[in-house]
Amino acid sequence: MRLSVLFAQVKRSEVMLEIITILPGLDKGGNREKFDELTLRAGETVSIVGPTGSGKTAFISDIELLAQGDTSTKRRVLINGKIPGDEVRYNPASKPIAMITQNTKCFTDLSTEEFLQIHARSRNIEEKRIIMDTIDLANKFTGEKIKKDTRVTVLSGGQTRSLLIADAILIGAAPVILLDEIENAGIFKQEVIDIIKNTSKIIIFVTHDPVIALLTKKRIIMENGAVVKVLNQNEFETRAAQNLLELDKQVGLIREQLRAGHEITSELLHVSFA
Ligand SMILES: Nc1ncnc2c1ncn2[C@@H]1O[C@H](COP(=O)(O)OP(=O)(O)O)[C@@H](O)[C@H]1O
Ligand SMILES: [Mg+2]
Repeated sequence: MRLSVLFAQVKRSEVMLEIITILPGLDKGGNREKFDELTLRAGETVSIVGPTGSGKTAFISDIELLAQGDTSTKRRVLINGKIPGDEVRYNPASKPIAMITQNTKCFTDLSTEEFLQIHARSRNIEEKRIIMDTIDLANKFTGEKIKKDTRVTVLSGGQTRSLLIADAILIGAAPVILLDEIENAGIFKQEVIDIIKNTSKIIIFVTHDPVIALLTKKRIIMENGAVVKVLNQNEFETRAAQNLLELDKQVGLIREQLRAGHEITSELLHVSFA
C-alpha cells in the first residue's frame, strides 16, 4: 500500500483548506514580529527551527487553536483568507488540524480497534476497512507492531504517536498536520519522509533533525518567541538533504548491527561507507 495512494483516497475533509495565513504577533519582549503575513499552502511542508524556548511549540499551538489574538503570542490565524467560524474552531469533528506532540497520549480504556471505530463513527465514515488501514499505516511508522485488540492505554509512546498520525491522516483526513519533535518519538524517519514527498496537505514539523529541516519546502526560524526568518528550500539544500539521508541510513544500519550484538567488520564498513 503506497502512501500516495492512501492520500489520494482521502478527500473527506469538511473544510476545503487551501491556505493558512498567520498574522504577526509579539515576541517575548512585546515587540511586533517583523513580517506582514505568512502564508502556507496545501501541499507545502514546513519546518520550524530554533533553540529550546524560542517559541516553536507556541507557534504551532497558535495554528492548532486557530488563535485570534487570544494566546500569549497575540498572533492571528486565517483559513483561506478568512477568520474561521466557531464551528471550525470548536467542533472537533470539523476541525481541519491535527497536532501530535511528544506528550500526546490516549486516555481511555478501549482497544485500538474500538478507539478508531468511535472516531470513524463521529466522522460518519461507513467503510469498515478504514480501521485496519489505519492500523496498517501506523505500523509503517513504528517498529513495535500495534494489534487491533491492544488497549490504547498500554501503547508505547512511539506506538501512540504513530497511531495518532495514521488516524489524523486517514480517519480525521486532516488537511493540516502539526508534528512537534517527532524525531524523539519512536517513529521511523524514512516513512515520515515519504509523507513529505507525497503530501497534498500542509505538514509542519517542529524539528531539530537536519534531514527533515532540509527536506521541507519552507523553514521558519524562531527566536525569543518570534518568527525571525522564513527561508525557501534551494537546490543546494535539496542535494545536501539527499546526502544526509544516505548517511542517516548508514548510521541506522550500524546502529542495528551494534544493537544486535554484532561487530563492525571491514565488510560492513565497506558496504556502509563505499
Ligand atoms: N511570543 C511569545 N510571547 C510570550 N510568551 C511566549 C511567546 N512565544 C513563546 N512563549 C512562551 O515561552 C515558553 C517557551 O516557548 P515554547 O513554544 O515552548 O518554546 P520551544 O517549543 O521552542 O522550546 C512557553 O511558556 C511559551 O508559552
Ligand atoms: Mg517545544
